[in-house]
Amino acid sequence: MRLQHRHFIIGITGGIAAYKTCELVRRLQDEGATVQVVMTEAGTRFVSALTFQALSGRPVYTDAWSSPAASGPANGMPHIDLTREADAILVAPASADFIAQTASGQTPTLLSTLCLARDIPLLIAPAMNRQMWQQPATQRNIEHLKKDGIDILGPGSGAQACGEIGDGRMREPEELLADLIARFGPDAGIPAARTAPVIRGVLQDLSVVITAGPTFEPIDPVRGITNRSSGKMGFAIAEAAALAGAQVTLIAGPVHLPTPLGVHRHDVTTAQEMHDAVMRCLDAQPADIFIGVAAVADWRPDKTRSGKMKKSEGQGLDEISWVENPDILASVARRSPAPLCVGFAAESGSISGLELLLPEKRVRKQVPLLVGNIGADTFGEDSNQIMLCDAHGTTLLPKASKFDLACQLISHIASQQQSHS
Ligand code: CTP
Repeated sequence: MRLQHRHFIIGITGGIAAYKTCELVRRLQDEGATVQVVMTEAGTRFVSALTFQALSGRPVYTDAWSSPAASGPANGMPHIDLTREADAILVAPASADFIAQTASGQTPTLLSTLCLARDIPLLIAPAMNRQMWQQPATQRNIEHLKKDGIDILGPGSGAQACGEIGDGRMREPEELLADLIARFGPDAGIPAARTAPVIRGVLQDLSVVITAGPTFEPIDPVRGITNRSSGKMGFAIAEAAALAGAQVTLIAGPVHLPTPLGVHRHDVTTAQEMHDAVMRCLDAQPADIFIGVAAVADWRPDKTRSGKMKKSEGQGLDEISWVENPDILASVARRSPAPLCVGFAAESGSISGLELLLPEKRVRKQVPLLVGNIGADTFGEDSNQIMLCDAHGTTLLPKASKFDLACQLISHIASQQQSHS
């Protein structure tokens, strides 16, 4: 389910490749996406609107006047409304005629009007006879579209419906599916259009400090202890909190992740450094919310050896004395005034085990909200399953992308924050 919560408008213009789009519509839904089909009149000559309605489970829009507007979007203006909830428009097949209209901003059909009235990405998969494709006019139009930031997918090359061989075939459904997964799948880091607006503004002007990733405790210049945390969950939460309108400071252990938009980031290595960075940050400006997502090493070697420990010289791990690291979450919770503190617990075992363990750990950690997951299953993955534990009990959230879970968590934190303040 690599496209869960994504919503695409699939535009179909006149071309025999429209039959391949049937398969694409089906495959997109297998990956968890929802699809709204919009066809031009020429498109319906190749495959009927009824076929796409049956495949997508939604009425198909063909033109602005006779479309199912009455039962559709609220203000009955499909050329505006349809793109509001969508992540992108993909036109496949895109005829030479449609490409020419779009390149020059003409809007003779509902589909071309949608493309002009959009503020979401437009992807175009050309499909035409090889000579039509090679014509300077078509090539000019394609260059124009590329300059306008429109993503041109393909075309492919090979045998064509007209019996000729060359460039101009529409990319295969599985190739187009891969294109969409690359751009909108869990690795793309783009918020889902329908999830993100729900949290927009729920933490407006609040200040949030988040720890994320592992820590690394050096033993000698070449060794150290760390853990398998990738930082993805913490970074997703930072991104969601920023989207919710908060001022976000992210204290990150050693990870290889880009900084989410609008987030202030401090990189640290050890647990002590993470602790000190959090305290400095809270001293400078008290936070409303603290979310400890980092997998902090509980212990560190008492000192870092300046030279490499040599087995050949009889040195071994038994000569390392371990010192307990400061508990960052506990230190923050002890502050006065304390921010609303949210802890994480990455445990091994089963979901039912987690349900038993979390309430006890939440009380021990003295935090209003503790988020549990089965860490060994999800380290480094793009999706996760988490359980929220607060004073009212536990709630298991269904498996979803880390960003979607982050949005749900932020929404939950926002409602707790209202009663906390
Ligand atoms: N935490 C922290 N500083 C530490 C250790 C943990 O801030 N030195 C935070 C983590 O970021 C997380 C929460 O505490 O939010 C729980 O971490 P966990 O390792 O599960 O807690 P422990 O108290 O170490 O529990 P356990 O007995 O399971 O090791």
